[in-house]
Amino acid sequence: MANVTVIGAQWGDEGKGKIVDWLASRADAVVRFQGGHNAGHTLVVGEQVYKLSLLPSGIVTGTLSIIGNGVVLDPWALKAEVEKLEGQGVSITTENFAIADNCPLILPVHRELDGLREGAAGSGKIGTTGRGIGPAYEDKVGRRAIRVCDLAHLDHLEPQLDRLCAHHDALRAGFGEPPIDRAGLIEALREIAPFVLQYAQPVWKRLKKVRKAGARILFEGAQGVLLDVDHGTYPFVTSSNTVSGTAASGSGLGPSATGFVLGIVKAYTTRVGSGPFPTELEDDTGQRLGERGHEFGTVTGRKRRCGWFDAVLVRQSCAISGVTGIALTKLDVLDGFETIKVCTGYRLNGKVLDYFPSHAADQAAVEPIYEEMQGWQETTAGARSWADLPAQAIKYIQRVQELIETPVALVSTSPEREDTILVRDPFQD
Ligand code: GDP
Ligand code: IMO
Ligand code: MG
Repeated sequence: MANVTVIGAQWGDEGKGKIVDWLASRADAVVRFQGGHNAGHTLVVGEQVYKLSLLPSGIVTGTLSIIGNGVVLDPWALKAEVEKLEGQGVSITTENFAIADNCPLILPVHRELDGLREGAAGSGKIGTTGRGIGPAYEDKVGRRAIRVCDLAHLDHLEPQLDRLCAHHDALRAGFGEPPIDRAGLIEALREIAPFVLQYAQPVWKRLKKVRKAGARILFEGAQGVLLDVDHGTYPFVTSSNTVSGTAASGSGLGPSATGFVLGIVKAYTTRVGSGPFPTELEDDTGQRLGERGHEFGTVTGRKRRCGWFDAVLVRQSCAISGVTGIALTKLDVLDGFETIKVCTGYRLNGKVLDYFPSHAADQAAVEPIYEEMQGWQETTAGARSWADLPAQAIKYIQRVQELIETPVALVSTSPEREDTILVRDPFQD
């Protein structure tokens, strides 16, 4: 199993960026395979903080970084991010960065529609990142997307534009908005095209070559299993499949390429945006978790909702996504709590459930059943070996592992790259 697929096992922001960055120095390629610039992955290396939304986290270590076909790509956001990272001294070249030429584009009209819909949704508001993700994926499936390869054929875009405009102009009229400015759109695409096209290629071919040479591929998921469009807390989800299997379809490699599936799991739970959250704490404890964990969104700056660890949800995510082992992150945020609670089941209409039901109303109605554990007063922040951890923290990790029926491969104890405990090397499996 030379490859590793990193996915979030909760509602995103589990610390995927940190773990991918830590693993990247031992990988030969890092591949994003779904989502778009709704992701916000934070890497801390010494004094430097890197915030990545579209670029694979491997770019910071100079590892070959690839945006796969499963991603929706906003070319203007990409350019801004490349320039920002270059400003921080990161080298991004046609040697170390490639974009799938069959990747669908996020256009300004998608961002506008995302905003218009959210504004009109009332209590059904999803709380999206406002980046146009949903509308862009809809257009991909609706076969009217403009893709990276179209940027090299802008003079032949008429039929595709007709399809796109027929759909969007009707929607826009419903919101009292003018039709798409076709000439303006073509002009903007013409302007950005050379920047994107320098990196564009059939990446499945490049990856095939990398794989044949016996190299290690690291797949970097965005969001988390509970935001998956099929398996998540629908409709309060994102518009892509975030589960591990997407690594294959979203990059152009077969299913065996996914290798070791590393689920990233926060030692407690957070969520941004609307939707059910059984263990949410709207009290001082929730406030304390948010403050200690600096729980503010990387992309939108929104405050993240916080709560205790929910073992039912993570057990379900691990099963659905075929997780081989987890990286338990932000353990240090639990330092100093007198007691710590873990959700082990739900109560719904007098029945006990060992899984999260599918309907939003049931998801909102379940009551968590908690197990209470003694906390620890020592600090785990910066711990780099098992021996640095207090006995009670080890007990917590062991209990989590037992409840989610999945082993712990890594433990993270601070935002810093090297503050990581290796239990079982995912690349060695
Ligand atoms: P991602 O979207 O899964 O990559 O996660 P984010 O980067 O959005 O959010 C995770 C936040 O927690 C970032 O600010 C990280 O720097 C930080 N972080 C990651 N691991 C740890 C950890 O073990 N302890 C602490 N205190 N912070 C961490
Ligand atoms: P990373 O990769 C946390 C959430 C939004 C919203 C829902 C739909 O950093 O973990 P969208 O803009 O995708 O249509 O929004 O999904 N969301 C995330 N939450 N982390 C993310 O990414 C997220 N990407 C989207 O808040 O609830
Ligand atoms: Mg994030």
